[in-house]
Amino acid sequence: MKKILFVTSEVFPLIKTGGLADVSASLPIALNGLNADVRLLIPYYKDLNKTEETYYKSTVHVNKRSVNILETFLPETQVLVWLVDCPALFDYPGNPYVDEQGNDWLNNAERFALFCRVAVELAMNRAYLDWMPDVVHCNDWQSGLVPALLSTEVDRPSTVFTIHNLAYQGLFPKKTHALLNLPRQFWHPNGIEFNGMLSFMKGGLAYADRITTVSPTYAQEIQTAEFGYGLEGLLRHRNKDLVGILNGIDIDHWNPETDVYLNQHYGISTLDKKQLNKTALQAKYGLFIDANVPVFALISRLVEQKGLGLIVDALPEMLKLPLQFVLLGKGEKYFEQQLAFFAKKHPQQVVIILDYDEALAHQFEAAADIFLMPSLFEPCGLNQLYSQRYGTVPIVRKTGGLADTVVDALPATFNDKTATGFVFNGASSGALLEAIKRSIIVYSDSERWKELQLNGMQKNDSWHSSAQRYLELYEAL
Ligand code: ADP
Ligand code: GLC
Repeated sequence: MKKILFVTSEVFPLIKTGGLADVSASLPIALNGLNADVRLLIPYYKDLNKTEETYYKSTVHVNKRSVNILETFLPETQVLVWLVDCPALFDYPGNPYVDEQGNDWLNNAERFALFCRVAVELAMNRAYLDWMPDVVHCNDWQSGLVPALLSTEVDRPSTVFTIHNLAYQGLFPKKTHALLNLPRQFWHPNGIEFNGMLSFMKGGLAYADRITTVSPTYAQEIQTAEFGYGLEGLLRHRNKDLVGILNGIDIDHWNPETDVYLNQHYGISTLDKKQLNKTALQAKYGLFIDANVPVFALISRLVEQKGLGLIVDALPEMLKLPLQFVLLGKGEKYFEQQLAFFAKKHPQQVVIILDYDEALAHQFEAAADIFLMPSLFEPCGLNQLYSQRYGTVPIVRKTGGLADTVVDALPATFNDKTATGFVFNGASSGALLEAIKRSIIVYSDSERWKELQLNGMQKNDSWHSSAQRYLELYEAL
């Protein structure tokens, strides 16, 4: 049985800001189902949604600090979670990375460097837990220093580093290297130095035994200047060790037949009941109640990556079309203000909820007809997968995981029953509007529309095959 230490900065439902949390829960659950022994390591933030008992396990000393290791389980699962308990660094409320104003916590480098050092102690079985992993699987920049630090150890476990988003790199001023007491030999262009800055991300990219990312297309894209942020050369150099494995989804948590957040369940054989979720949503938010007008939804962090600029530009034209638009999101103030303006001006056609709300995310998925995901780049993306499972047809830009998981509705793809959504190319509001218009035309033909919905609902996006691929990767190491 392979023993895996899965190091991550967020995991659903304990703490979540985005898709990393979903993957950090659903992948380990799937791997354990395939007879692996996966244990999670996360920081003990103040606002964890813990439901299971927590026990003290041990104390480790790293970089002049003593840190307690606590043990709990991922709520309602058998997945063991170790918590890095260092109140001075992690006992902050709210978002794990930024303060209320959206600014990075000032001591992020220190926080996540400590987290990485503790991970190394666990990985080397020096944390008094009597368990040594075969593989340490790290995720995104917050655990990037783990492969670097482990590279100096003798008889160490193998390392895998997964890029969930190359846009967030954990870059800090040069002096941070000394402040964190990092080994001097890491400071060079083939190490963790990046244009005179300290890069946590490079700790993973330069030192991990294998690098993965969350879709095959993104694995190719990040080797180009357009998506690589200057790291494309290193990624090309490591090409043989780099693989894209598509994310799966938790098909129990995201299941319209049993979803705990829905009043009205539905499924493939009861698809007409989906409509009731839509009229309930229209009534709840004072939208014009009409079962025949398509409701477009968007649920996202409100950041440039997600194509919010295209949405804001397209909205004046979009709202001349027979459609309604509901959005759930939190993020950059500029987008929040622009979006709120449209809601105020068109109260019966637009609903903007500037919040982070798990229940509403499920309810919007169930109620909407069409899901918008015009991302400028998208390593994988999960909402297009949730949408397909909920019979909510996605409109996506052809990039990253969106290109790998949504098949454009064309005569040929209708014929072979692969069509699941609408795919457009250009990163422009015009191209987005064209796709929206195409979707409205197909929507008006209810038989055709139902074919699209069912194609998506019948897809198997569970973790089964992707988890198997991770297991093969671990075994090959
Ligand atoms: P990313 O990780 O880049 O944000 P993903 O599509 O992989 O994008 O995952 C986003 C996850 O976060 C999904 O589970 C989505 O439902 C959730 N999410 C995003 N914004 C919100 C919000 N405002 N309220 C509730 N859930 C949200
Ligand atoms: C990142 C990406 C998103 C991906 C998620 C989980 O946050 O932006 O595309 O689905 O990680 O891998």
